[in-house]
Amino acid sequence: MRLVADGLVVRYPGAARPVLVGADLDVDEGESVAILGPSGSGKSTLLSVLGGLVRPDGGTVRVDDDEVSAAELRRLTAWILQTVNVLPERSVLDNVLVAALTRGSTPAHARTEAVARLEAVGLADRAHDRTRLLSGGEVQRVVIARALVSGRPFLLADEPTGQLDRATSEVVLDGLFDATRDAGVVVVTHDPAVAARCTRTVHILDGVVVAA
Ligand SMILES: Nc1ncnc2c1ncn2[C@@H]1O[C@H](COP(=O)(O)OP(=O)(O)O)[C@@H](O)[C@H]1O
Ligand SMILES: [Mg+2]
Repeated sequence: MRLVADGLVVRYPGAARPVLVGADLDVDEGESVAILGPSGSGKSTLLSVLGGLVRPDGGTVRVDDDEVSAAELRRLTAWILQTVNVLPERSVLDNVLVAALTRGSTPAHARTEAVARLEAVGLADRAHDRTRLLSGGEVQRVVIARALVSGRPFLLADEPTGQLDRATSEVVLDGLFDATRDAGVVVVTHDPAVAARCTRTVHILDGVVVAA
């Protein structure tokens, strides 16, 4: 599958000028695209359009040539955010399991899937710990495992290593990139080290996307 955004325009109510003025972006399954740009340049807005959370005022989002609605985009994408929303008092396994069950897997299959995804991010041995006992980097890897178990073809990561030190962020990125070989990944980041690990880098400047 290929996700293609074409000529996106987004203007927030009351804003003097649009945030995006004809932004294009495409990502294939198996590919990772880094989005760089100054603070306030519209990186999160672009990601929100791809995830079906913001409806653009202009332009289209297509999957394999078919225009898709915001509701369809919400079903095709999984998020990895800087501020994580895990259930702190539940086990690591439960936090991943819930995403597998939401997807409609049987309980037994969901458990197998969740354990496999925790292994992929190096957290199998923490599966039965309460999530609040984990470090920031470990929690971020739980969030990656949860996104992966959703089985969605596109992953949207908004500054996934923004609050982590260098060594921890390397471990998180290993988890992200090893485990997402089949997904199309779009990563918003300030960090050139993150961009360096992506197959492609683009910049947002003055509301449009330009190749790096
Ligand atoms: N929901 C919103 N309503 C109004 N303005 C917003 C909203 N979200 C973002 N903005 C504004 O749009 C601009 C781009 O924001 P954002 O996409 O978050 O940029 P970035 O992620 O590159 O920092 C900023 O000026 C921000 O204040
Ligand atoms: Mg942002």
